[in-house]
Amino acid sequence: MTDQHGTHGTLYGVGVGPGDPELLTLKALRLMRSAAVIAYPAPDTGSSFARDIVASHLPEGVREYAIRIPMQTDRFPIQAIYDDAAAALTPVLESGEDVVVLCEGDPFFYGSFMYLHARLATDFPCQVVPGVSSLMAGGAVSARPLASLSETFAVVPAPLPTERLSELLDQHDNLVFLKVGRHLDKVRRVIASAGLTDRAIYMERIATDRQRCLPLAELTDTSAPYFSLIQLNKRWSKPV
Ligand SMILES: C[S@@+](CC[C@H](N)C(=O)[O-])C[C@H]1O[C@@H](n2cnc3c(N)ncnc32)[C@H](O)[C@@H]1O
Repeated sequence: MTDQHGTHGTLYGVGVGPGDPELLTLKALRLMRSAAVIAYPAPDTGSSFARDIVASHLPEGVREYAIRIPMQTDRFPIQAIYDDAAAALTPVLESGEDVVVLCEGDPFFYGSFMYLHARLATDFPCQVVPGVSSLMAGGAVSARPLASLSETFAVVPAPLPTERLSELLDQHDNLVFLKVGRHLDKVRRVIASAGLTDRAIYMERIATDRQRCLPLAELTDTSAPYFSLIQLNKRWSKPV
């Protein structure tokens, strides 16, 4: 691509949706098929969820770069990992080749693409291609609208402290709790103390062949996988 950056390649942050390879945009598909290099976040060992979603669409011979992210919360190594990834992708972009970064769900909805964007977008052309987020897919699976009419809607990260979760639950009509994982019991207690358990739906691994969706009241598990969320509609009833 020729622009103010000269003949540099473009960095694309491409949303690949929540799990079902059919929940891809045509643009995502086109970019993946023509990329010189595909990058994606991956755990220390094992496969990348983002890559698994689109594996059947990847062109033969494409060069791949796995951004290995250890399962820990400490900020320093994470910053260093993205510094290294940006350094590794820089010569590719400088040579004029495009890089497609696969992002689970939507790249800019709690997505790690922001870290590469922050490091590379001033030096190279960069485009974000939105994807179907877990939030939208969750509403489709539960068959409950995320919000309607003048209702308010909040996206709530489950790692927040109990008091903040209660406050947000009090303030909004509809909520989706993300990153439930090991915070399941805390979120469940907050919802129960507000007397709203019967309004909440628990979902995990949405849009994959291991998907589960059930009323929170019926969930007997004491822990949840990382890819889980809880949708709560305070006043939901079927529209007439
Ligand atoms: C770091 S955020 C990334 C969100 C993602 N960018 C999106 O657009 O959905 C990860 C959280 O999103 C939710 N999530 C993402 N994909 C999911 C899926 N397939 N099923 C259930 N929850 C999912 C979970 O709450 C998970 O802890």
